[in-house]
Amino acid sequence: MKPAFVVRPAEEADLPELLRLERATPEAPHWPEAEYLRIVAAEPGPLRRCLFVAWLDGDLAGFAVGKTLGDEAELESVAVDAGLRRMGLGAALCRAVMDWCRRQEADAIDLEVRAGSAGAMRLYHGLGFEEVGRRTAYYRDPVEDAVLMRRELLESHWLW
Ligand SMILES: CC(C)(COP(=O)(O)OP(=O)(O)OC[C@H]1O[C@@H](n2cnc3c(N)ncnc32)[C@H](O)[C@@H]1OP(=O)(O)O)[C@@H](O)C(=O)NCCC(=O)NCCS
Repeated sequence: MKPAFVVRPAEEADLPELLRLERATPEAPHWPEAEYLRIVAAEPGPLRRCLFVAWLDGDLAGFAVGKTLGDEAELESVAVDAGLRRMGLGAALCRAVMDWCRRQEADAIDLEVRAGSAGAMRLYHGLGFEEVGRRTAYYRDPVEDAVLMRRELLESHWLW
């Protein structure tokens, strides 16, 4: 049986634990706390961003970030505590971001992932993302291609 976890929009009080997890996850983009604070504060403007957290047994177990600008959307980051992976949290967090972007009336959601991140790519494929391009040697430390993936968010494609 899958463990009971809760996915909800992040609050400012989540940020210390979220930052600890982000810093402990080398594959995730690393941003200053002020960046997360701006997302939680939902500053007005054409660029909208969301931040979801997953809690399991009283611990912050994962988070995901997304943004929309007009009808375009991006899944910017997703990370799950290394000891709590393969329990469905990553997929639930991505779905929360995708659903939020759809409600902002985005037509499709894009993401970039390291070509060597086989687990993340399998997760995204399972959520309906398809490879749409590549940026050669886009990442550093180590040098790696970026795989560009896209998932339509139109109602007729919205199958959970
Ligand atoms: C990628 C990541 C978020 C996945 O989180 P997770 O909670 O383990 O994902 P889920 O349990 O929801 O996995 C759902 C499905 O994705 C696939 N998957 C996820 N991780 C996988 C792995 N390491 N290897 C193979 N398949 C994997 C599987 O199909 C899995 O379903 P299954 O467990 O029933 O086989 C997590 O591994 C992580 O935080 N990695 C480091 C950060 C990162 O790479 N983020 C992506 C770039 S920002």
